[in-house]
Amino acid sequence: MALSAGKLVGMPTETVYGLAANAWDVAAVEKIFAAKSRPATNPLIVHVAGVDRLSDAIAWPPSAAIQKQLDAIVDLWPGPLSVVCPRGARIPDVVTAGRPTVAVRIPAHEIALRLLAECPFPLAAPSANRSCYISPTLPRHVCDASGVGDHVSMVIDGGACHHGVESTIVMLGDRPKLLRPGSITAEVLALRLGVDLDDFQSQGRGGGINADEAPATSSPESLLAPGMMREHYAPSTPLVLLYPDRCERPFTAGQGRGERQGRGDGMGRIAFHKLSPEDSARYRLVETLSEHGDFDDIARNLFASLRRMDQAGLAVIHCDTCQPIGLGLAIMDRLRRAAARTESTPQGE
Ligand code: TXA
Ligand code: MG
Repeated sequence: MALSAGKLVGMPTETVYGLAANAWDVAAVEKIFAAKSRPATNPLIVHVAGVDRLSDAIAWPPSAAIQKQLDAIVDLWPGPLSVVCPRGARIPDVVTAGRPTVAVRIPAHEIALRLLAECPFPLAAPSANRSCYISPTLPRHVCDASGVGDHVSMVIDGGACHHGVESTIVMLGDRPKLLRPGSITAEVLALRLGVDLDDFQSQGRGGGINADEAPATSSPESLLAPGMMREHYAPSTPLVLLYPDRCERPFTAGQGRGERQGRGDGMGRIAFHKLSPEDSARYRLVETLSEHGDFDDIARNLFASLRRMDQAGLAVIHCDTCQPIGLGLAIMDRLRRAAARTESTPQGE
């Protein structure tokens, strides 16, 4: 099998497509970093087939405190949840960027689970996009110009990803922390772990999970969640977020207050619900992610839509926003990072 031979495989999961390699094979894992142009300081998530194989990745047996926290959330697996806890002896430094912890998850995708069950080793798999570009939610994204197709021996076609945003990441320990919001919500996890929601969501030293709080200049290793940099998931076309309370937002490209313009023509709109004909008419391209603003639909369709818009030769992409509650927190987290470059441009530039 390609994975046993130290090769990379594009793997479907319920969140986004992963770029998988044998997590115990240093040379194979190094290929992941090269394929993505990913900084060696940004650790990878390790995937295992089931709870009975957690010991392939994490320190085993876990301490009583970690075991208690695992017991409170273990039934969420298989599912879009990654847990950061002390790492097992067989996980090499390259996977964890030298950290004493490892992120582990059991994906809820039949093909991924079959693959993991067949491998006598766990699979390290980041999202299968070049570093900082939009995560792939379709097999063809793995192979297109922004992808890592030249570096994989195969991409397994598992169709469109069900959730469309990456897994929720939670760090276990004395003060459990939400490191990345996802489909398993902060509210559910805080309740399960018996912690205060605000404390759980605030990241402490190194900046918050919120893109507004996380400093763009932070070195990755200074952050609790080293991959959660302020600018991420970014299309090349300027992306402007439309907040309902900022109604002075420009509707004509070129007339915006300091709005950055791409090289293309016209404006695109990513809508979270069906637009009126008058609203639609202002745009060269409109994509409607959900008829009625359903968060599951928005999350599922968001990344593919951003990619299509980015390839449409537009001057600017306008995108709706939503309340950062429940799954809305993950949607807004990804959007703020995707728009960080555009939004931080000084006005008038
Ligand atoms: O849904 C997902 O999680 C997808 C699929 C393929 O499983 N994977 C994914 O991996 O999103 P990636 O590499 O794109 O994001 C992993 C995140 C990064 O932000 C990384 O910094 C963080 O997990 N991470 C990994 N190990 C960590 C650790 N020991 N401590 C803190 N953060 C960690
Ligand atoms: Mg990623």
